Amino acid sequence: MAVRPTILVIDDDSEIRYSLSRVLSSRDYAVSTAASGEEGIAAVRKSPPDVVFLDIRMGGMGGIETLQHIRSLNPRQLVILMTAFGTAQTAIEAMKYGALDYIMKPFDPQKVLALAANALKTHADLTAAGAYKPTINTEDYKEGIVGSSAAMQEVFKTIGQVTASDVTVMITGESGTGKELVARSIYQHSHRAAKPFVAVNCAAIPENLIESELFGHEKGSFTGATGQRIGKFELCDGGTIFLDEIGDMALATQTKILRVLQEGEIQRVGGTETLKVDVRVLAATNKDLEEIVKTRAFREDLYYRLNVVRIRMPPLRERLDDIPQIVDYVLQTLQKQKKARVRKVSAEVLAVLLRHRWPGNVRELENVIYRSAVIAQGDTILFKDLPAEIRDAAWTGGATTPSIPVAIPSAAPAGPAPAIPPAAVEPAAASATSPAAPESTPLNLQDALDFVYARLKAESDEPVLERLEREMIGRVLKDENGNLVRASERLGMTRTTLRKRIDALGLKI
Ligand SMILES: Nc1ncnc2c1ncn2[C@@H]1O[C@H](COP(=O)(O)OP(=O)(O)OP(=O)(O)O)[C@@H](O)[C@H]1O
Ligand SMILES: [Mg+2]
Repeated sequence: MAVRPTILVIDDDSEIRYSLSRVLSSRDYAVSTAASGEEGIAAVRKSPPDVVFLDIRMGGMGGIETLQHIRSLNPRQLVILMTAFGTAQTAIEAMKYGALDYIMKPFDPQKVLALAANALKTHADLTAAGAYKPTINTEDYKEGIVGSSAAMQEVFKTIGQVTASDVTVMITGESGTGKELVARSIYQHSHRAAKPFVAVNCAAIPENLIESELFGHEKGSFTGATGQRIGKFELCDGGTIFLDEIGDMALATQTKILRVLQEGEIQRVGGTETLKVDVRVLAATNKDLEEIVKTRAFREDLYYRLNVVRIRMPPLRERLDDIPQIVDYVLQTLQKQKKARVRKVSAEVLAVLLRHRWPGNVRELENVIYRSAVIAQGDTILFKDLPAEIRDAAWTGGATTPSIPVAIPSAAPAGPAPAIPPAAVEPAAASATSPAAPESTPLNLQDALDFVYARLKAESDEPVLERLEREMIGRVLKDENGNLVRASERLGMTRTTLRKRIDALGLKI
């Protein structure tokens, strides 16, 4: 008889224990339950199950502590953590303490079964290979990375997985997607956290200076080298160096970077001495490195050296569900820094933010919230507080040409509209489309009316219908070149009525 896979569910909530057992028992699994961390540990001690589902938040011993206990009893124990909400912190922590995976409540039964099957397969592989992963313990930390979308959860998982080793990580993604944030997060969770973190923007340093910047130089090695200089790699010994915009690095410099990665050695410019350095390298680019490798502007061997683990930062438009959380986070930060007192955004504003295409990603969103929060009067950001370009984009679904003509003349700007940083005005054309937000989302009538209504409400106290009537009649008259007969047909009113309305509304033909 084949042995049934064993699964232990540890949760202090009896409903979760019941529902999870039911779902898992629908497959041929032997499911047992424990109502606390302590009980769970005792069960694992008695007979280790193939897979454990463990609640992260429990009365008594918490999930992470239980996880540590379990893994110290049996470092190979596969554990799936269950969380009520996905934050970067819990996700990274879960993976760091050696959880195999984690799942968010409320559960999707299909997802539970898929995770269980996957874990059991890993269990079988591990048993066959005799391999095991040691646990890693580090102190507490705080995250500044917001998002609980599936795409971000993948990012957090990978961060958790690469913190234990010195593996080189390549972080790619559009401008403003959080590449640097991720690099810092990897560093903060690594065993190098107490050592320096040095970020070098390879695109910002002139080509003739970058080598001296990175490796230092000897006195007199070139004109202007009046003294010896210690480079970033040397300064950073024992630490982590973040090579930002690596796609912009000159070929000659690339060769030297390759040498550091391969031999752990550097030479100062104009020097003869070879210095040993112990530096972990993280790199980022918003360019398509594969493409640059093809044109031979980037060394293929360096590419492979850097690209050991790849973290792709999803653009904001691929994770619209993170927008409300990011907005909250930015508003809270602004409050803490006493830069604004606004607490929330109106429903209309949220709708607009969700529809925007965000070519500048989180940086652009941050900037928009900041600018709106500063001019908002109450505790809520209203449609009128949004920067003009966001309000205008709302009319057209973010497209450059309006998909439906809009009769309402654009309002006077509601407040100061500072220049947008370059990142925020980058054309969206090059970016990939996602099903959630196609390249140009034409407004449907309902959405258009929502915006019109929000705008009219924000702009003046004039009765909405009167305003709309004036705009609509004016528009039709223009369209029909002032021909009253055709205009009245189009509008569905008699010529006499039209004349009366024109007079009453103060329109000119
Ligand atoms: N997930 C996120 N949660 C909260 N803030 C974020 C997130 N992602 C990015 N940010 C914020 O957006 C801004 C841009 O992030 P960052 O500098 O890491 O992006 P980047 O990908 O390095 O951009 P670039 O390619 O333009 O250098 C920062 O202020 C950062 O704090
Ligand atoms: Mg950056």
